[in-house]
Amino acid sequence: MSYSRASRKMMIPILALLLLLNGMSGAFAAVSSSASIPSVKIPPVPFAFKSSPLPNVMVIASGGTLAGKAADQTSFQNYKAGTYLMEDLVKQLPDKNKIADVSVYQFGNKGSGGYTIADLYDLSQVVDEALKLYDGVVVTTGTDTMEEIGYFLDLTVQSEKPVVITGAMRPWDVIGTDAPANLYNAIKLAGSGKTTWFGTVLMLNDMIHAVRDVTKSNAHRMDTFETPIMGALGYIDESEIRIYRAPARALKAGKENWKTPFDLKKIAKKSLPIVGIAYNGQEMSGGAIRGFVADGAKGIVTAGTGAGGISSQMSEARKEAIGKGVIFVTTTRTGSGTMYGGGEGIIAGDSLNAQHARILLILALAFSNDFNTIKGWFEGVGTQEIDGSKLAS
Ligand code: SIN
Repeated sequence: MSYSRASRKMMIPILALLLLLNGMSGAFAAVSSSASIPSVKIPPVPFAFKSSPLPNVMVIASGGTLAGKAADQTSFQNYKAGTYLMEDLVKQLPDKNKIADVSVYQFGNKGSGGYTIADLYDLSQVVDEALKLYDGVVVTTGTDTMEEIGYFLDLTVQSEKPVVITGAMRPWDVIGTDAPANLYNAIKLAGSGKTTWFGTVLMLNDMIHAVRDVTKSNAHRMDTFETPIMGALGYIDESEIRIYRAPARALKAGKENWKTPFDLKKIAKKSLPIVGIAYNGQEMSGGAIRGFVADGAKGIVTAGTGAGGISSQMSEARKEAIGKGVIFVTTTRTGSGTMYGGGEGIIAGDSLNAQHARILLILALAFSNDFNTIKGWFEGVGTQEIDGSKLAS
């Protein structure tokens, strides 16, 4: 599965020439037209970059605060997310020649919460298509649902090449914005190749996190992303990229089981089911669970108190739903900690938070209806545990 940037670069002029002859070139930035993946055309690496020694990084932009336009230069929170086009933002970045040759694909331009799960299916395949041509990909999104978008990519992208997701907490055009710095460092990280085999990583505020473990911890602060208990993978200080830990998955580099079972080419977009999150609280009713079932949910994640506890009313509603074939995953609302055990129709969510567990359950249910298969995926793909005694085998 290894790749050589030099050999790819040698193929680029031939490809670019063929496309030029066909009148298809010149699309440095493209906008995805519809949800239909076969129509995705990733612009080839531009001709001008072919003789450059720099890595080729494609920025796949979807909007968010990073591309936000503020009401004025000091309006940190009064802005319209997803306004500026990435092509223009990349043009404004200084010193790109120190880090990468940068190309752009404008996937969309809106807030992260505006994307559907079906859109993520498209996004994932755009990322994989881009990685057939480019050395690494940066995905820009809003930070609100970056945990979900990042983990969806982590579980579905088939390429081992670097995927870095980034965004910003302040819009592009205010004083003290983090947007250009985050974009710059994300491109630097993707181009460095240092997270090859890591799956998707999140980079904001100079910190590098495994998307499976990271969470948005504050509504406004620029250091909002944290990895509870386990900590960040590393950080970026100017030209230094220091990585001190790897996701457990990286230990399977080059092995067939590095890939997850969730190759989206094997399923139709419409097979991604409804999955809800039911949050427990003091004497919480079973209404949320019954509502999700009425909506047609095939799975429900509970965000329980402490070690995953839910109220007796929720428990009653869960029993009814399990009787109808709904699969449950237990998580904790505390923000960290591992769920163990499970039961009939109930899977322990390990240390996944509720939003991550929901993404895994959506994908698992799209690929299987079998409880034990899905439980196995939570124990294998979802539980990123390291057993040193098995590393050499
Ligand atoms: C969004 O998630 O699109 C808005 C908030 C942000 O980008 O930080």
